[in-house]
Amino acid sequence: MLQLAVILPTYNERANIARMVERIDAALTGYTWEAIFVDDNSPDGTGDEVRRIAQADPRIRVIERIGRRGLASAAIEGMCASAAPIVAVMDADGQHDPALLPGMFAAITSGEYDVAYASRFAEGASTEAWGRPDRVKASGIANAIARRVTGVDLSDPMSGFFMLHGETLRADAHRLSGVGFKILLDILATVDRPLRVKEFPLNFAARMDGESKLDRTVVFEFLIGLYDKWLGRIIPTRFALFATVGAMGVAVNFAVLWLVLSVILRERFVYGHWVVGETTFIIANVIAALTAMTFNFVLNNELTYAEKRLRGLIPLFKGWAKFFLTCAIGILSQIASTDALKRLHVNDALAVLGGIILASVWNFALSSKFVWGKYG
Ligand code: GDD
Ligand code: MN
Repeated sequence: MLQLAVILPTYNERANIARMVERIDAALTGYTWEAIFVDDNSPDGTGDEVRRIAQADPRIRVIERIGRRGLASAAIEGMCASAAPIVAVMDADGQHDPALLPGMFAAITSGEYDVAYASRFAEGASTEAWGRPDRVKASGIANAIARRVTGVDLSDPMSGFFMLHGETLRADAHRLSGVGFKILLDILATVDRPLRVKEFPLNFAARMDGESKLDRTVVFEFLIGLYDKWLGRIIPTRFALFATVGAMGVAVNFAVLWLVLSVILRERFVYGHWVVGETTFIIANVIAALTAMTFNFVLNNELTYAEKRLRGLIPLFKGWAKFFLTCAIGILSQIASTDALKRLHVNDALAVLGGIILASVWNFALSSKFVWGKYG
């Protein structure tokens, strides 16, 4: 009987697969297990490497996801894809020691615990070999916030190495956010009944090969995750990100306008007006708007659509041009709707706000389709 499934999300981990399988095999001697690699169509051929090993070893499988990215959703799909009663999730880069698996398994099968997980910050754990004091610090802060916000009281709720009954996961899988990387935290915060958790101190190792995919986005994604839990049901998270970036763009627009007129041209600013010719003002405003729009494009490309990020000079330029067109139409619709609202005797500020909201929704809908979408 199949006892345990080990789920390993992978993105560009080709060089680590064989060694990982060996280590799991050695740790789980005497158990009936399977290992499922959930790969997001890694350009380095991780999927092919898993298939090569799986040819000779049917305990190994690969789920290849096309056009998708994300550690949490990969973990959820992997766990849901196994018939094993107990499932574990771990990194495929060697930072998580498979030798902990039997102990975790015993904790779950004893019936005393619902979840077993490996903590980098428990008594007896260590992050020395990781060699990343910056990340240790960032994780410490994120963990503290998470504990406070979710009420989950673990030393390392951000851990990516844990085990539980597949059924526990499946019962609530549809309610998980699946965004970002904080999957254990997501499970603990989502499942209504309190889960009994056993902590295992982990000696968090250095990566075997390759580089971290979470470095750049780890803090940002964590914030998205929290946002998603709080407001995700009301405002779609992606739109909230887009709108946040847009609001920052407004600030950039003002800053550039001020920079050009006051600092560079040294024009006077009296009673809330620049004492300046109309043409100068229009030119300065065009420069400001273009800068703000470019700023928004770059930020949306990096953050809002991180997993669909456009790369390379030509795709970036094309994307920028399409974003520009979308925004240009957005601005026209904003002007028109503000005007219409004013005609209806709506308060000026509310009319402007209405225009901004309409233009934002328009920009979001169009750019998510034509700039970063399938039709891009
Ligand atoms: N399928 C898939 N899709 N897998 C991914 C993706 C993705 O978008 N991003 C990362 N992975 C895989 C990696 O290939 C690796 O096996 C595992 O997820 C962890 O990714 P790393 O890039 O090695 O993360 P890290 O070492 O920087 O982050 C560590 O700390 C986090 C908390 O701070 C890991 O232990 C994480 O699991 C942990 O949540
Ligand atoms: Mn890693």
